[in-house]
Amino acid sequence: MPYLLEIFYFLASLGFVIGLKMMGKPDSARKGNLVAGAGMALAVLGTLFFNSQGVYVIPNFGWIMAGIAVGTIIGFVMAKKVQMTKMPEMVSLFNGMGGLCAALISIIEWRHIAGSGEGVEVLHYLPILAGLIIGTISFIGSMVAWGKLNGSLKDILLPGQQLVNFVVLAAITAVSILLYQTGSDIYFYAILVLSGIYGLLFVFPIGGADMPVVISLLNSFTGMAAACGGFMYDNKVMLMGGILVGSAGTILTIVMCKAMNRSLKNVLLGNFGGGNTAQASTSASGGTVREVQATDVAIMMKYASKVIVVPGYGLAVAQAQHVCHELEEMLDAEGVDVKYAIHPVAGRMPGHMNVLLAESNVSYDKLVEMDDINSEFATTDVVLVVGANDVVNPAAKTDPASPIYGMPILDVENAKQVIVLKRSMKAGYAGIENELFFKDKTGMLFGDAKDSIQKLVNEMKVL
Ligand code: TAP
Repeated sequence: MPYLLEIFYFLASLGFVIGLKMMGKPDSARKGNLVAGAGMALAVLGTLFFNSQGVYVIPNFGWIMAGIAVGTIIGFVMAKKVQMTKMPEMVSLFNGMGGLCAALISIIEWRHIAGSGEGVEVLHYLPILAGLIIGTISFIGSMVAWGKLNGSLKDILLPGQQLVNFVVLAAITAVSILLYQTGSDIYFYAILVLSGIYGLLFVFPIGGADMPVVISLLNSFTGMAAACGGFMYDNKVMLMGGILVGSAGTILTIVMCKAMNRSLKNVLLGNFGGGNTAQASTSASGGTVREVQATDVAIMMKYASKVIVVPGYGLAVAQAQHVCHELEEMLDAEGVDVKYAIHPVAGRMPGHMNVLLAESNVSYDKLVEMDDINSEFATTDVVLVVGANDVVNPAAKTDPASPIYGMPILDVENAKQVIVLKRSMKAGYAGIENELFFKDKTGMLFGDAKDSIQKLVNEMKVL
């Protein structure tokens, strides 16, 4: 049965493509993940048990199974325990491991070449080198991103940062040429160290709010590094998996930049939403705000014909998604038309709000993307902004000096009434004041989002 390996690889590749396609929609995303996972399981099984001649058990089988068992247990426990607000950190950590694997593969293959005493062929040399450079940048960059997201590392911007980055890149190129000419180990490890330094320089200056974009970019790097492994081993499923991750990461990076109306260059050099701006505005200096009580809001919503909920990062922090769904069902029962307005970068990662709301069984047809719902605010009686801030900030349209100027926002101020649920007058991630909170039609319901919605639910019950 000489074609068994090809059949396994073909089915695995199909699993990747179909799974990825299914991940494009919230209602099929969970199954898509399983389909892609099954594809990966087939790829691994095929590699372990077959070669081009038929059945063959790979050497080091015991070690490999032990590695898979340890990795599975760690991954399972981490994925089960992680809070939704900590997902970007975990994605970053896992992505870094992918980069590390790609770099280790290159090191091992280089040892083989160096040990064989034969010359270096350019077609073999290029993927080894690319895997080493991209994998190391991705690993070190992801580790820095992880440290920054969990608060243990701060933004660092060196004087002349761009020049320093350029010099390090030029040095990597020069040493790569020397490596090809001489085949000397010392140049190989110099490239490893320089790539690590570039990974540090690349991620350290980037502002906190832009970290998800960088993580997505690093994710695409890891995919490319894995694809290099596919070239090295002439392994088509590895090549295909790597290319899919690389291109999906690149597309996601572009989509996120577009949703914030910023260029990738601006993201990489802009230091947006980092320590520099986070304390820019923490008080209500822009005027007076109107504080409202849960009773008034409950009455307002019960007698409304249309309510739109705008979920943001605060909803995730408060874990208010379940009680929010309960409120939505109560309003539905009263005949109120309830929808959720989903901004593409609400929260801290793409799809953050969709995942949270899906977790609490909100029907997918109630989740409406920004471009489709913006025209509906004008006919909406009440907008309930739950822990969102930057994504509803009109300064994105009106203030050219604002760091979020140009970012598409949800036009909530067009509704008849806007109720904002947050704990204080503190700024959102971009660190800027929000004039929406000072408008006459806006009422502020202060408190933790989960507690506030629970109060609304309780009030609705007695009305
Ligand atoms: P933010 O602008 O970060 O605002 C969240 C608000 O939630 C804060 O003002 C905070 O105010 C409130 N909050 C926090 N914990 C709360 C709790 N327990 N209960 C009630 N309120 C709470 O969030 P957003 O509007 O979702 O905007 C997302 C930001 O992240 C944007 O700047 C966006 O550009 C950026 N970003 C997102 C992505 C992706 S991919 N999603 C990528 C890059 C950047 P209090 O502290 O007063 O409660």
